[in-house]
Amino acid sequence: MTIDQIQKAADFIRSFNTPAPTVGIILGTGLGALAREIKTDVEIPYETIPNFPLSTVESHSGKLLLGTLAGKPVMVMQGRFHFYEGYSMPQVTFPVRVMKWLGVQTLLISNAAGGLNPGFQVSDLMLIEDHISLLLTQNPLTGPHLPAFGDRFPDMSEPYHPKLIQEAEAIARELGFPVQKGVYVGVTGPQLETKAEYRMLRQWGADVVGMSTVPEVMVAHQMGLQVFACSVVTDLCIPETLEKASLPKILAAAARAEPQLTALFRELVARL
Ligand code: HPA
Repeated sequence: MTIDQIQKAADFIRSFNTPAPTVGIILGTGLGALAREIKTDVEIPYETIPNFPLSTVESHSGKLLLGTLAGKPVMVMQGRFHFYEGYSMPQVTFPVRVMKWLGVQTLLISNAAGGLNPGFQVSDLMLIEDHISLLLTQNPLTGPHLPAFGDRFPDMSEPYHPKLIQEAEAIARELGFPVQKGVYVGVTGPQLETKAEYRMLRQWGADVVGMSTVPEVMVAHQMGLQVFACSVVTDLCIPETLEKASLPKILAAAARAEPQLTALFRELVARL
């Protein structure tokens, strides 16, 4: 991926003459409802944007929304790219680089994740405080160093902005719903984990496990964006009581958490 490719995508998006977005939002599996809260100026299908990968997962609709949320100019990815779909890590994270080029300063991410912490329940929201990257086969930050992206060896001591986590906790309290906080472990998928793997991931300090988010966060943090991310616990990954995974159940659990997640994101954007 080259700067020229990023520039071309950014120029194309700018050509719609909407207000320059300051907030980027990536919506996870089954969590697209926030899009309905956006006062949308334009919808841009991914396949029309130069150098954008195409979305392939059915539960993702694959378009970029430009508009306003709580009065702020936002750019929303309705549908994201996963490594397990066959995209390379530079492709998975390409839209985040484009966001930066367009002037985005804050990135909000949602995802569906499996709950490893025995205190969690299905449809809980978990504010991500930290992550563990188990993307062992490819890393979006490798390759020739382009100083325009940021540091060669980006610091990861605080990839999730503490002020945004605090703000989200305050919002949840005010709106009257509970939120969990914890560590997200990012895996490549697409298979779900074995019981032995869930046991290991829990022992390693993770509270939820999922197949997204970590690449985007690494790239966004390298480029100096403020990042906030929230998981929805869609299934319980406790080895002793593990049930067979089912996509319909995962989507139903995501749908039940959506109103709270939507309210949380809207309020967070309002207070930026
Ligand atoms: N593992 C990985 N990703 C997931 C899971 C899981 O159990 N549930 C939802 N996304």
